[in-house]
Amino acid sequence: MRILLLTHAFNSLCQRLAAELGLRGHEISVEFDIADSVNEEAVALFAPDLIIAPYLRRAIPRSIWSRQVCLVVHPGIPGDRGPSALDWAIEEDQPVWGVTVLQAQAELDAGPVWAYETFPMRRATKSSIYRNEVTQAATKAVLRSLEHFESQVFTPQRQSALRVRGGRAHRPMQQSDRCLDWQRDDTAKVLRKIRAADGFPGVMDELFGTPCRLFDAWPEATLRGPAGALIARRETALLRATTDGAVWIGHVKRDNSIKLPAALAFEPEAANLPQRALCTWWRTPTPTWQDISYEEDGNIGILHFEFYNGAMSTIQCSRLHEALKWAKQRPTRILLLMGGTDHWSNGIHLNVIEAASLAHGSAAEESWRNINAMNDLTLELINTEHQITVAAMGGNSGAGGCFLARACDHVWAREATVLNPHYKNMGNLYGSEYWTYLLPRRLGEDGAQAIMRRRQPLTAPQALDIGFIDACILGDVLAFRRDVLRRAKRLAADTNFAGIITAKLEARRQDESVKPLSAYREAELSQMRRNFFGFDPSYHVARHHFVYKSPASWTPRHLARHRDLGWVVP
Ligand code: COA
Repeated sequence: MRILLLTHAFNSLCQRLAAELGLRGHEISVEFDIADSVNEEAVALFAPDLIIAPYLRRAIPRSIWSRQVCLVVHPGIPGDRGPSALDWAIEEDQPVWGVTVLQAQAELDAGPVWAYETFPMRRATKSSIYRNEVTQAATKAVLRSLEHFESQVFTPQRQSALRVRGGRAHRPMQQSDRCLDWQRDDTAKVLRKIRAADGFPGVMDELFGTPCRLFDAWPEATLRGPAGALIARRETALLRATTDGAVWIGHVKRDNSIKLPAALAFEPEAANLPQRALCTWWRTPTPTWQDISYEEDGNIGILHFEFYNGAMSTIQCSRLHEALKWAKQRPTRILLLMGGTDHWSNGIHLNVIEAASLAHGSAAEESWRNINAMNDLTLELINTEHQITVAAMGGNSGAGGCFLARACDHVWAREATVLNPHYKNMGNLYGSEYWTYLLPRRLGEDGAQAIMRRRQPLTAPQALDIGFIDACILGDVLAFRRDVLRRAKRLAADTNFAGIITAKLEARRQDESVKPLSAYREAELSQMRRNFFGFDPSYHVARHHFVYKSPASWTPRHLARHRDLGWVVP
């Protein structure tokens, strides 16, 4: 079938659906929901058999849904309606939630149901539930809807006939529903409210007497203070006391600014708070804010880096580099790099880079420092001599983050993850992280160039198929971690472990003699220098729009196939 994805943005859910549908032989094109007339034009050009709307912020116009079946993905159970579905589900502590695929009609979210899926709720941020449970359930429900559609005999069911417990209309959640009362709210309540608003819109509050929105909250088990008081800082996070404990705030967005690490957004004020550094890489036994942590299971070393949104600033790269050097000294055989729960890594930290220019510094200089810090970290990984390294990608990864992973000896990804191993979407960025060394040896020169040129997302099975990763592991995040550990133990128990290490060092020595890593780095960085400091500002413009979330004014041509020159309806 020809399927048009009509969407507000090409977000991770949309990417996953595009890839899954493409894999099943459907012809997919994407149109961003910019204006009714543009949507109508897209439908006329592509003449789709079916329209799917994975992520919309407005209604589909009658001119489209009255002529063509349009399936809308709603992140709620049947009967639920409204634009704050997940926010209310978290706020109301719903034990079970779901995704419904319904047919667009005049009344929003009220159309008949083609399929739905439910899942147990997890205590996590809205965006984490969206990227994991919702994406998984939506994929299943969309695929089932398609079977129903293709059968030509299925009649979608009225919502009232299906309504499951808790499914009802909800008004849009307002900041007044979200607001915190630090004199009364306990830690659980503060966490729930911030998580229900994370990544967007955040909870409106004040820090140091300045209005801002709060994101990225973590519980603290031991430190205490008077309710509402800011009592400490650690690296990029600030600690604020609740009535029964305290909560770390990792990120904030001040008015008219962008989302930033809290201690950076309030740099001078935060400097006056007591620093409560952890002074260890070992994972703490009780809850606290620890973005980099290490644990061991027998001869397996496990390094976690829980960086918000997978973005890695210069300082985070340097700290992770220190942790990696330390972990390499441990008497282990396997070093697992786990990344964070939702993202493995998304490369250099575009918001922190943008912030450099806001603070009258230079975004170009900060980009340069950041990419060099990423490269130093990547180099340290490539040069691991005593352990076998494994990137265990439980969450999505993009741009330089994918090549940081590829610097490991093995890359194992969870089946549900989406990878974007290319850079060009960010203003034609050339990219570094030794990708010119790491990618062609897996995919060949042509394969590497094709990935960079096509700039399409890859599901984990696709990435396995082309050889970008080495294993694709089924299951949710917990099952993935169990399986990763099982596989790592098998690798560590290999009777030929010493032989494997010798072969890896020999392969590296040979590669180095053909072309040293320093030459790859130099060539990549000479291109990056042009991106950052050259006359073409595309990267700076693209980054600015990305961090400020400027609404799209057209659909990129590599997604809107129906807008290709010479496109004719087959
Ligand atoms: N720096 C800062 N923030 C980043 C980031 C980065 N490198 N990559 C992603 N983010 C943030 C997004 O701004 C968004 O923030 P929000 O919480 O305020 O909404 C959040 O992470 C999730 O990103 P989103 O784009 O919604 O996720 P996705 O899963 O739909 O898409 C990517 C994933 C990787 C395709 C997309 O995030 C992307 O293109 N990132 C930029 C990658 C890049 O160019 N890095 C620099 C070169 S190495």
